[in-house]
Formats: sequence, structure tokens, C-alpha cells
Amino acid sequence: MSDIELRGVTKRYGATTVVDGIDLHVQDGEFLTILGPSGSGKTTLLTLIAGLTELSDGRISMAGREVTHVPPAARNIGLVFQSYALFPHMTVYDNVAFPLSIRGLPAAEIERRVGEAFRMVRLTEFATRKPAQLSGGQQQRVALARATVFGPSILLLDEPLGALDRKLREEVQIELRQMQKALGLTSVLVTHDQEEALSLSDRLVVLDKGKVQQVATPTDAYLHPANRFVADFLGVANIFTGTPERLGDAVRLRLADGRLVPCPAPVDGSAGRPVDLLVRPERIRLGAPQEAGLQASVVDAIYLGQSVRYVLDDPAGQRIVAQSADRIARFRHGDVVGVDWEASDGWLIPG
Ligand SMILES: Nc1ncnc2c1ncn2[C@@H]1O[C@H](COP(=O)(O)OP(=O)(O)O)[C@@H](O)[C@H]1O
Ligand SMILES: [Mg+2]
Repeated sequence: MSDIELRGVTKRYGATTVVDGIDLHVQDGEFLTILGPSGSGKTTLLTLIAGLTELSDGRISMAGREVTHVPPAARNIGLVFQSYALFPHMTVYDNVAFPLSIRGLPAAEIERRVGEAFRMVRLTEFATRKPAQLSGGQQQRVALARATVFGPSILLLDEPLGALDRKLREEVQIELRQMQKALGLTSVLVTHDQEEALSLSDRLVVLDKGKVQQVATPTDAYLHPANRFVADFLGVANIFTGTPERLGDAVRLRLADGRLVPCPAPVDGSAGRPVDLLVRPERIRLGAPQEAGLQASVVDAIYLGQSVRYVLDDPAGQRIVAQSADRIARFRHGDVVGVDWEASDGWLIPG
């Protein structure tokens, strides 16, 4: 069991800072995901935690012990990368047994542990095959088994499912999550796939240009992003810019063209100043056009299986995306509809 503490963790290459003063606490047994665009420093941060890269500044502790200058092999960490990095000439069994043989465990103990790891990722029947005789998903399960068979307390994964197609990816995601919980592994996963981050993690860290933008549960980051970057990066963001006005008991947002839309009350003394209001597609209600409210014309209705996604344009030229749990599309291209939401379903983006 192990938590991970990062204090001012920084990595510079020459004059470029790629990981910039990161403070982060990964709780014992937590599944934390580092999410960010390509080049934001995710892999570098993970290799710093693994000890594969020297820090330029800051320190890292695991289970209360400082490990900043401890070599990777002495950190008791399991690693999984996008490229499976299996030994091609070895059988699946020998691949998984490898971390145990180099640690000099007795053969009977190796057999017991490999058997256990195989059952966990459902690989038992493939033991005698070579990696090339397995599908991508199966190879990645071998990599997972090999990364955990020696009983690490921390598991670090860098885009481990990036090479898999969607269906396989979802299967391995479930397996990974079950294994992580069953073994109580403190896990840090790196991905640029926001759907994967939202579905797998206890908490996520959104990274941009080497800096932490937000640390939050997936729901909180999605509905209450800390800034405009997080709002845009996590899913589809309808953003309305305007000035909050108090009208009797309610607050409304006055848009540039004078129209008023539902808006939660500004938290601090920010009333009267321009703000960005976020409304996620699932929170938008479409109905008959109302005199007072926002109206938009339907550009497209996309059937998604469990819901329909409507793409609309309002007269000011703003694109609006709404997603409703409709079994068939209620509106078609060219329909003019009323666009509305609960004031409390909107989020005023800080900053
Ligand atoms: N060894 C290195 N030398 C110089 N620059 C590097 C090195 N490794 C990574 N970088 C740079 O650091 C930045 C972050 O890279 P990386 O951590 O791989 O991002 P991500 O995994 O989020 O795509 C990139 O601009 C990359 O070019
Ligand atoms: Mg990377």
C-alpha cells in the first residue's frame, strides 16, 4: 500500500520547462488519471514518478518515504506502456514469470503467482503461446499481468490502451479497473482520451503546458471546470459570454445581442462583469420556441444509440450542441426550436 506525494516537481530540457512545479497527492489505492493534449508533459511526469527521468526540481515521496533519487527498480512500481514491450521470443508464461525469476523466487512460488495473475486477466489458456500469436488486447493483458505479478503497490500506465480498437479498449478498461481495485493498487494512468479518463478514474488531473489546470473527480471537472481550458478539453462545451443581471429573485445572463438566458448567481462580487457560462449538452432542453427565450435552428440530429445529439445555430451565429435521451430524433434539419436550461445547470467558469 502506498500513496504518492509530489512537491514542486519540475522538469526542464534546456530553456524549456515541460513539467512545471507540480504539487499532487495520489491517495493510497486511488485510480488517478493524468489527462491532457499531446505534448502537455504527461509522459514526462509519469517517467519522473517512475524514476526513469531525473527531476530538475522538487521532490517525490511514496508511502511517506522520499524517493526522489531512488532508482526505478527500488521503487516497487509496475509499469505498462502503449507499446506492449513483451519479449517476443518468450512464451506468455515466461513473459509474466520474468519479473519473478530475476528476483530469484523459487519455481513453485513463481508458478503460483503467475497462475494467479493469469486468472485475474483471463489468460490461462494462452500460457504457451508467443506474444505474436495474441491479439492486441490479449498482449496488453499480458503486459498488465507482468507489471503486477511481483506485487507492486503502485501501477503506472502510459496510454496503455491507445493501440486498441474501441471494443477491445472497453474490455481491457473493465479488466484494468477490476484488477486495480482487487489488488488495491495506487494507480496513475496517462491518457489524452477524455472519455477514458472520465470512465476509469477516481480523480483526474488536467494538464496543459506542464501545469496542473485542475484536480477533481470526473463529474466535478466535467460540470464545474476550473477554467476555460478544462471546459473545452473535457467534452462538448456550450459557452455563452455575457453579463449577469439580477432581475427580481432570478439572475439572468445578458448576451452581447441583448437576449437573456438562465444563469446561476455569481459567487463573489463579480456581478456586472462579463463572464463565460458553461452549459453541457445533456443539460440543454429543447422545446417549442418561446417569445422571450433563446431560439435556434437545427442543423443536424445525430442518433447515438441511447440518445440524440442535436447541433443548432442561433441567430447570433453561435453553435449550440444539445444531447437528449430521445429514442428517435424529435427535430429535423431546419426546425426552429426553443433552447432552455435550469439556471442551476449552468456553470460560471472562474477566471
Ligand atoms: N528528452 C527530451 N528532450 C527534450 N524535450 C523533450 C524530451 N522529452 C520530452 N520532451 C518535450 O517535452 C514536452 C512534453 O512531452 P511529453 O511528456 O512526451 O508529452 P505528452 O506525453 O503529454 O504528449 C514535449 O514538448 C516534448 O517535445
Ligand atoms: Mg505521452
